[in-house]
Amino acid sequence: MQIIDQQIYLEEVKVSELAAIYGTPTYVYEENRIRDNFRRALRAFKKYYPDFRFFYAIKANNNLAIANILRQEGAGIDAASVNEILLAQKIGLGGEDVMFSGNFLSDDDIRQGLQSGVIFNLDDPGLLPRVLKFGQPELLSFRVNPGYGQCEVGDFVCNAGPDAKFGVHPDQVMDAYRRAKEAGVKRFGAHMMPGSCIRDPDYFRFITELVMDIIGKAARELQINFEFVDLGGGLGIPYKPGDYTLDIDKAAELVAAAFRSKIAEYGLRPPRLMMEPARYFVGDAGYIIGTVHAIKDSYKRIIGTDVSMNTLARPAMYGAYHHIYVNGREDEPRQPLGLCGQVCENTDFWVRERPLPQGISEGDLIVVENAGAYGYAMSYQYNGRLRPAEVLVNGKQHYLIRSRENIDDLVRNVTVPEHLLN
Ligand SMILES: Cc1ncc(COP(=O)(O)O)c(C=O)c1O
Repeated sequence: MQIIDQQIYLEEVKVSELAAIYGTPTYVYEENRIRDNFRRALRAFKKYYPDFRFFYAIKANNNLAIANILRQEGAGIDAASVNEILLAQKIGLGGEDVMFSGNFLSDDDIRQGLQSGVIFNLDDPGLLPRVLKFGQPELLSFRVNPGYGQCEVGDFVCNAGPDAKFGVHPDQVMDAYRRAKEAGVKRFGAHMMPGSCIRDPDYFRFITELVMDIIGKAARELQINFEFVDLGGGLGIPYKPGDYTLDIDKAAELVAAAFRSKIAEYGLRPPRLMMEPARYFVGDAGYIIGTVHAIKDSYKRIIGTDVSMNTLARPAMYGAYHHIYVNGREDEPRQPLGLCGQVCENTDFWVRERPLPQGISEGDLIVVENAGAYGYAMSYQYNGRLRPAEVLVNGKQHYLIRSRENIDDLVRNVTVPEHLLN
């Protein structure tokens, strides 16, 4: 994003032009920023540990145009469901380019997951006999819950630790791999996902040591060879202006040093190191352009926009902060104001008070920052407010990559029984 003469540009396209062509609210992604983010991170990790690969967690943004950018850069896909495996296949990725980390899987999920030949990552040792009923996975890993989780996302509940629903308890890990080995599984990996949006490089060293101590013991005792260790996602981005950024080079250096030292300590054959971030690649490359439709002076002044909780769920869902720019007014003095969307829930009053340009008026365009991850993917249709359009910008070019929904999308799967029609 850049601001020239008070006009906001995404890459080299004015947001006023994008709003005029595509309407609002619209998600817009900067292609070059996604590529820069990916390359910066890959360069750092490969520098310190060359046998390294990223798997993009497609749940954060499942637009196939975005996924294709990351595929072109060399990412595999981390899939949370069978449908995400199918999305990966739509961009030409399958087999061991895809990691399947579902949880509480149905028999159908297991059967389809096995048939697809992706890397199976089990969230619970109890799943193993159910998997074996349908076939033998070629390469199997367990998602370890190392008993520790950390997150910097609003009131977000962490993905690991005693309160998380995910992963295998450390005391069960040895037995899980033992049973898999006894059942004839030949190839193994290990996985965990203990953090979300972490900007402290030392956290990544800490979790590397945690998981390596758990699986190192299993490898030694069971005489198994881990082909990969996946440290999950969690590479953080700053959401508030002035917040520090993650020193990715430092994180990679600390992780690689800890990884190598634990490999030596447990006498392991060096596994491939993997991570499966999403936010770091796409989070700060995505924006929502919205319009101020009405301004109300009641108990306080509230700016009403078309960026509602159904368009961007994160603030209402877990108190996440998203910075807001106002096109044409960034140089104006500020005044504490509220800002909301159009949905009939008071959680849609998603900015209770924030210094915004004092001249903000009806018809102004707002630009909501850091909306590329867990933005559109979490949008929904409540109040008959439909999902927005998605646009990709690259230099001066712009491409519609998902159309705005219309009334047909609202009734697509609805059937009204005959007797209700008269
Ligand atoms: C299993 C798993 N892997 C990867 C990710 C991606 O995390 P992030 O976007 O924080 O990098 C998530 C997100 O929740 C996840 O649940």
